Amino acid sequence: MKLKEKISLEKIFEKEYKIKLVESENNKEAIITHFLHNSKNGVSQFFKKDAVKYTKEILEYKYPEEEITNIVAEEALQYGIFDTFNIPFPPVEHPKFKFIDLFAGIGGFRLAMQNLGGKCVFTSEWDKEAKRTYKTNFGERPFGDITKEETKSFIPDEFDLLCAGFPCQAFSIAGKRGGFEDTRGTLFFDVAEIIKRKQPKAIFLENVKGLRNHNGGKTLATILNVLRNDLGYFVPEPQIINAKDFGVPQNRERIYIVGFRNDLGIKRFEYPKPINKKVAFSQIKEENVPPTKYFLSTQYIQTLINHKARHEGKGNGFGYAIIPDSGISNAIVVGGMGRERNLVLDHRITDFTPTTHIKGTVNREGIRKMTPREWARLQGFPDEFLIPVADASAYKQFGNSVAVPAIQATANEILKLIGIKK
Ligand SMILES: C[S@@+](CC[C@H](N)C(=O)[O-])C[C@H]1O[C@@H](n2cnc3c(N)ncnc32)[C@H](O)[C@@H]1O
Repeated sequence: MKLKEKISLEKIFEKEYKIKLVESENNKEAIITHFLHNSKNGVSQFFKKDAVKYTKEILEYKYPEEEITNIVAEEALQYGIFDTFNIPFPPVEHPKFKFIDLFAGIGGFRLAMQNLGGKCVFTSEWDKEAKRTYKTNFGERPFGDITKEETKSFIPDEFDLLCAGFPCQAFSIAGKRGGFEDTRGTLFFDVAEIIKRKQPKAIFLENVKGLRNHNGGKTLATILNVLRNDLGYFVPEPQIINAKDFGVPQNRERIYIVGFRNDLGIKRFEYPKPINKKVAFSQIKEENVPPTKYFLSTQYIQTLINHKARHEGKGNGFGYAIIPDSGISNAIVVGGMGRERNLVLDHRITDFTPTTHIKGTVNREGIRKMTPREWARLQGFPDEFLIPVADASAYKQFGNSVAVPAIQATANEILKLIGIKK
């Protein structure tokens, strides 16, 4: 069979082929892209059988008049029938370590790890729009719901580092701290189960600052107990890290938890020191912002001001601030969807998007909201990072994401200890 054209997986799964699929979510595109992205390491074998099977299915659908055998499908895969490498952040050429990216969002962890020479061998994220942004930038579609056994079955055995910015949930435990079984039914349980099965050398977890005092401190105590005593990891005291200390103008504090498999003999870990590079908002401010789209009306600004005045000191204001160019942003975050699974603990819940407004130069009031690109920059995403989704999704995605430079600086310290040099 002669390849007539390159096939866009995006088109196939988003538009054409979908009509044929009964189930709304499936891992077919994830399997094919994971296979293609791991073609230079042993991991691709892990995805091969299914990748060939689904490629055969796609080719049969595209070319009903041709006879498609497994060999044809395999050759088509090898000769690059799917165009998945025309992306801003392709896999690194000679990777130094392997990692998995859980609760991947739009890939903040992945960006940091790739910058350090890492190869992602598995990623999971269930939000459709976040998957879109991820795929557009990294060429790989994440697998779906990580609580499903089927999803977990696609995690390869060999990788060095597990990364997860998992949503924080309470455990129902009677005493001060619980064990592995007490965490059942939460997303931490799924993370713990993956650690238990795969035993990566190191783990890097990120969460909201409020995790420290969540449920009177029991949630964190349980997490640490499970990691240290049930799973056998050396876990130093978690640290609150502020994004602004790592070169972005955002006051965003998050808790970082790192761990090392006990047999590696690691007994000490130093979190990275602040880099002493103060960046002001003006340095990431977007110029020439379309006036109609981002500048607020006088009336709306007045509503915000009145609302804030009414709720000042009561802890439930709108959570916006007008930021001078020389200042830095509050933590960017969006409330709303998914709240029941993703308890938001350390910020002002907002009922409008986005939460923060800056002083601009164009309209009468000179106040506009930040643009998605500014939110991207506040999290340390380079401008090559593409934003293929509507603004509302983009704010949610960057607000949910991590401050890439702070993650990278911490991961760098982790990698040094497990013998991976930059
Ligand atoms: C706090 S965000 C992490 C964002 C990520 N660190 C980044 O850089 O963009 C948590 C993510 O977990 C995802 N999530 C929640 N439950 C999930 C599940 N059961 N399976 C897969 N992803 C899930 C959410 O959609 C959300 O994108």
